[in-house]
Amino acid sequence: MPAHYDLLIRGGICVLPWGEYAIDVGVRDGRIAALGVGNATADRMLEAAGLHVLPGLIDPHVHLRDPGDPAVETLATGTKAAVLGGLTAVFDMPNTAPSITDADRLAWKQDYVEQTAWCDMGLYVGATKSNVSELAELELGRGVCGVKVFAGSSTGDLLVDDDASIAAVMRSGRRRISYHSEDEARLQARKGLFKLGDPYACHMEWRDEECAFLGTRRLMALARQTGRAAHILHVSTAEELKYLRDYRDLATVELLVNHLTQVAPEVYEKLGGLGVMNPPIRGRRHYEAAWAAVQDGTADTIGSDHAPHPQAAKLRPWPECPAGLTGVQTLVPVMLDHVAAGRLSLARMVDLMCAGPARVYGAIGKGRLAAGYDADFTLVDLKRQRTIEDRWIVTPCGWTPFDGMRVIGWPMATVVRGHVVMQDDEVLGIPVGRLMRFSG
Ligand code: DOR
Ligand code: ZN
Repeated sequence: MPAHYDLLIRGGICVLPWGEYAIDVGVRDGRIAALGVGNATADRMLEAAGLHVLPGLIDPHVHLRDPGDPAVETLATGTKAAVLGGLTAVFDMPNTAPSITDADRLAWKQDYVEQTAWCDMGLYVGATKSNVSELAELELGRGVCGVKVFAGSSTGDLLVDDDASIAAVMRSGRRRISYHSEDEARLQARKGLFKLGDPYACHMEWRDEECAFLGTRRLMALARQTGRAAHILHVSTAEELKYLRDYRDLATVELLVNHLTQVAPEVYEKLGGLGVMNPPIRGRRHYEAAWAAVQDGTADTIGSDHAPHPQAAKLRPWPECPAGLTGVQTLVPVMLDHVAAGRLSLARMVDLMCAGPARVYGAIGKGRLAAGYDADFTLVDLKRQRTIEDRWIVTPCGWTPFDGMRVIGWPMATVVRGHVVMQDDEVLGIPVGRLMRFSG
């Protein structure tokens, strides 16, 4: 008797950790039951001829703004955007309004996710100067991917900027902490200095390379003292990337797709406030260093830092325009375009977007195609050409910094634990998202 599966993904090329194979995948009870299926039957077939079958792609850095302003984003719209863009999981940041910094707010969010999300989720808990004693317990909560520390201020009110408080946070628990690394004292001292020239380019002069590098040097000194592992989010300078290579026993590195795609000053000339984010998009030297870090393995993960703001607010004159760009829906198409251009291999993209987040955050059952792992898949057409447009974006604020970008490579289907939640640009079924599990 041929084997029977709930779902059979047929005719595609599977990207396994050890190479690409033209094999069929059998799914049962939401998990991968067989890699390489002969004669079999299934309740549902997903035809993947001409497509590559990737492990479900993960965006470990999004701000879904919920609770917050539903005219900008909600958990429902942000996770819908995620599956339309080929992601099977996102990790959501805590700088909401109010922020996720205590057990009650976390409990609310845990319940809310499982009623609302279209993809699986990890949740960050925000560190504050007053919740240090609760962090050890909070970081072990259901679905919590880790603690987030804003060591420099950005959107929202989260900030832990002095050495004593940061060290106390580091001593509080054991999982890897994720850091926004810009030096707050330097940010404050330089605010207001920049009024000449291209107003939006002033942003990168204010939050300059030294702000980021100084922040990272301070964090790594404290991480060394306390022995606590650190994930440095959105590393944006050549100097930090070189420096962090000497801290590989403690440090992991996130790069953002924006820093790998856009350069200053052109980005500000073209997009104005729609190009303003923290840490800023910088000059070509840093863009090249980021690509070198993709090539040589310094980078562990890639995120979008999806941080929606109303378009009208983004077009206010600097410095009144808020920092942050939408990106959860465009991360996969833009990265596939980089693959098509030969800037990285498909295997390295999968390493950065599946194995990388699974390793850094200790995600259980995710990040590779392997028997027994969750049946999360992103099916992609490496040859499909399409233009990214604002009107494709389902995040309510409705804009993307990549509007008008012609890309080669597109996500054709998204499968979350055996549920086909997106196919051919349509979201299917009901929200099936669950909180992820993390170890450590
Ligand atoms: O540009 C940014 N926007 N950087 C951050 O660190 C926060 C984010 C936001 O939440 O708007
Ligand atoms: Zn962020």
